[in-house]
Order: sequence, then C-alpha cells, then structure tokens
Amino acid sequence: MARLELRDITKRFGRAVAVDRVSVEVTDGEFLTLLGPSGCGKTTTLRIIAGLVDPDEGEVLLDGKPVQHFPAHRRQTAMVFQSYALFPHMTVSENIGFGLRMRALPADLIQRRVGEALALVELEGLSDRYPRQLSGGQQQRVAVARAIVTRPKVLLFDEPLSNLDAKLRERLRLELRALQQRLGVTTVYVTHDQAEALALSDRVAVMFGGKVVEIGTPRQVYRTPRVRVTAEFLGVTNFLDGKVAAVADGHYIVQTPLGIVEADAALGVRVGEVVTLSFRPEDVRIGRYEGTAITGRVLHASYLGSVTDYVVESGGITLRVHEAGGSARGAGEEITITLPATAAIVRGG
Ligand SMILES: Nc1ncnc2c1ncn2[C@@H]1O[C@H](COP(=O)(O)OP(=O)(O)O)[C@@H](O)[C@H]1O
Ligand SMILES: [Mg+2]
Repeated sequence: MARLELRDITKRFGRAVAVDRVSVEVTDGEFLTLLGPSGCGKTTTLRIIAGLVDPDEGEVLLDGKPVQHFPAHRRQTAMVFQSYALFPHMTVSENIGFGLRMRALPADLIQRRVGEALALVELEGLSDRYPRQLSGGQQQRVAVARAIVTRPKVLLFDEPLSNLDAKLRERLRLELRALQQRLGVTTVYVTHDQAEALALSDRVAVMFGGKVVEIGTPRQVYRTPRVRVTAEFLGVTNFLDGKVAAVADGHYIVQTPLGIVEADAALGVRVGEVVTLSFRPEDVRIGRYEGTAITGRVLHASYLGSVTDYVVESGGITLRVHEAGGSARGAGEEITITLPATAAIVRGG
C-alpha cells in the first residue's frame, strides 16, 4: 500500500518560483504523469518527492504520514532518470544490486532479487555486460530494474524515454506500463511528451509555470480540457468564441460566428456568457451531417499518412480539420464541413 500526497508544495530558486502551491494525491497503485513544457517545474516536483530537494513550503505524505524528515535513501522511493545514470564500471547485475548491497542484505538474497528484476525487464542474458556494451533501450531497462529491485513504495520516472528513438520509445512505453501494472506500484512519471502521457497514465496532471492547472484521466484532459493551455499543449485544437444561448439536457447551446455548437455543461457558466470552445481537428467532419454544416475553403492540405490535415477558412475564421487517410482535396477548393456535435468550454487567457 502506498498513497502519495503533495500538500501545497512551493519551491523557489532565488526569486523564481519553480513549484507553486502544488497539491496532488496519487492513489495506491496509480500511474500519475506530470505533463508540461520544459521549465514548468516537473523535475523539481519529482525531486521533492524523492527527498533530493527540500520544498520551501508544504508537505509530502506517504500513506498519510509526513516524510519530510526522511532523507532520500529512507523515503522508499526510487527514481529512473533520462540519462539512466548507470555506473560505467559495474556490470548489469552489479548495477541492479547496488541499492541492495548498500542496504547490506545477505548475498544470496541480493542474487535472487537481482535475478527477478533481470527477468522482469527481460535482460537475463546480459547480466555480465557493462553499460557501454548495451543499447540505449537496454541501458534504460537496467535503470528500471535497478529502481524496482529495492521494492520502493513509489516509483519515480524523469523523462526516461526521451533519449531513445521514436520506435523504441513506443515499445518501451508499452513495456513500462505492463511492468507497472504487474507490480502495482504507485508511480509518478514526468514527461513533456503528450502522447507518452496519454498512453501511460491513469491520470495526467498538466503543469504550467510551476502550477498544476488541471488533473484528469487521459480522456478527460484530451477530450474535455477545462483550461486553454491544456487544450493547446495536448495536440492540435480549434478555439472558437461564442455566447451561451441556452441550457438544455445538461448541454449548453452556444451561438458562434459559424453557427450553433453544443458544449458539455461546465460548472458555473451562465446563459448570456461569452465562452471559448475547444474542439479537435478530428471532431470536424468533411461533408454534411447532422449538426451545423457550413461551407469553407481549403487554404492548405498536408498529407500526414494516417490523416490529411486541412486548414479551412470560413467566414474569416480558420479551422484545423483532419480527415482519415489521404485525399485529393487541394488548396482553393470549396468544401462543406460539419462542426462537432459537442465541444469543450475552456477558460483562461
Ligand atoms: N537548482 C536550481 N537552481 C536554480 N533554478 C532552478 C534549479 N532547478 C530548477 N530551476 C528552475 O526552476 C524551474 C523549473 O525547473 P524544472 O523543475 O527542472 O522544470 P522541468 O523539469 O519541468 O523542465 C526552471 O525555471 C528552472 O530553471
Ligand atoms: Mg525536467
């Protein structure tokens, strides 16, 4: 059992606020990702959890008990870094067993646990190699094994896949998720890569400027973001301003310059209020369907393989529209598009 809680954590470096009143609860066995652009305070937050950095204010609690006074090696957390940080002069098994030798466990127990960890990351055949004799992906597996072998209550990952090429990153992403679920260990994962965050996490905490601006399941933060920066950071989106004309069946009817669009009923929005809608390029359909259909003109078409990405202009407003597969529509062409059945209402600048 391990429930992690950050309560009002603040960390300043000089006058700059790196982490700004961050409160997050990670439930037992949960995989939570801190997602945000470079410099938003992700690493600092993770290092505070690990006990490598002291916060100026706030508390870190494990299973409801403050761990502030415990040094890093007594926190029962283990961290995997982007740079792997393996010991170059130690073999794979020596690297993995390092934390156990520091704890002065009996040699046969160390050997057994190292063997188990090697099997979990599928590196059994490579135990006597040195880090320089391994590929990047294998080195990262060693780093993961070294973290889990100590049986931490909380696993921490700081952009562990960022140094790998795209194909390998995707494969290790699947492996990491499967491993975390098998171990059931509470995990905090840091990345600036939205696809990684969506694919791996039970929940995503979106960070900007030291603050957690939004927390939700991958589907919630992608489909129904509550703040504008979340919608913007998580892929391509369309923003469209409009006025709430009515509330019906838990939906808002929003009058936009392009026509009526419905929105999920968000807390605290009133009839008559001007709101910003956010919807994804894949929510706009080319053709006439039920809903608001409008005509527009293709300004640009980019073939991206699985979809074609269009910039479409209608009534002075440009929209991004995705259509599955390739298409012969070119710049200048008039097309009919149907606006999404529902959009999200977002707040903030
Ligand atoms: N040891 C430090 N001294 C001074 N400033 C720091 C230090 N560590 C981080 N910062 C600053 O704090 C902010 C957050 O950094 P960091 O947590 O590393 O962000 P991220 O991991 O999201 O890229 C940045 O502006 C960074 O420059
Ligand atoms: Mg970082």
